[in-house]
Amino acid sequence: MDERTETLKKWISESDNIVFFGGAGVSTESGIPDFRSVDGLYNQKWKYPPETILSASFFRRDPEEYYRFHREKLVIDGVKPNRAHLALARLEQEGKLRAVLTQNIDGLHQAAGSKNVLELHGSILRAYCAKCRKPYPAELMNHGKGVPRCGCGGVIRPDIVLYEEPLDQDVLTSAINYIRNAEILIVGGTSLNVYPAAGLINYYRGNKLVLINLSETPYDSYADLVIHEKIGEVFSRI
Ligand code: APR
Repeated sequence: MDERTETLKKWISESDNIVFFGGAGVSTESGIPDFRSVDGLYNQKWKYPPETILSASFFRRDPEEYYRFHREKLVIDGVKPNRAHLALARLEQEGKLRAVLTQNIDGLHQAAGSKNVLELHGSILRAYCAKCRKPYPAELMNHGKGVPRCGCGGVIRPDIVLYEEPLDQDVLTSAINYIRNAEILIVGGTSLNVYPAAGLINYYRGNKLVLINLSETPYDSYADLVIHEKIGEVFSRI
């Protein structure tokens, strides 16, 4: 086993206070494309730039086009948790991992058995009426036709953070507390491009910041351990 993975394995074996902060790169090995890699969602040709479609103003302006994109690109049937999700769930069961903080909206950490998951950008497995906020099963939204509507006439929307929208303050505060008190912060599968999520890393005060990402990130030079490999591979070796 290479030296970096050995170090990671040793740090994990000695800790009961690990926090994981992840992004779309954790789910690519489950078949869900990430956003900014060459084959990522934001590099695919679509009628409008995906970052525009995934904004609150676009959702209000053109819900039909939003839902075409949502059902074509965000909803991927039959996806399963991969080795990274399963390893994190195991570390939580062993009392080593305190929380998973994810930017992902696919619910795969919970599907793998993780209990304490903070979804910074929400989840497409939950829906609610944009007007009266009545909760709805996600099925209608994810697999229906056209724009789903509430009895009050409002549009049913996914419980995700669209561009131009704030993150849930309680989730953010809780995430910051976990990171501030963490002994080891493992950051994986994220380009650390999108704020405020990416800024969470600045609250870490320990000396075991681990970055596991296929490509370089703006935080590589701050990390105590950097592994540029597939996160599922790395977790299968620890
Ligand atoms: N193992 C490790 N790293 C991986 C893997 C993998 N198997 N697959 C991809 N990566 C890396 C890529 O190299 C990339 O740097 O994961 C990173 C994913 O970065 P992004 O595509 O930018 O995704 P993310 O960081 O989660 O984006 C953050 O942007 O559009 C918003 O709301 C959206 O939550 C998303 C946020």
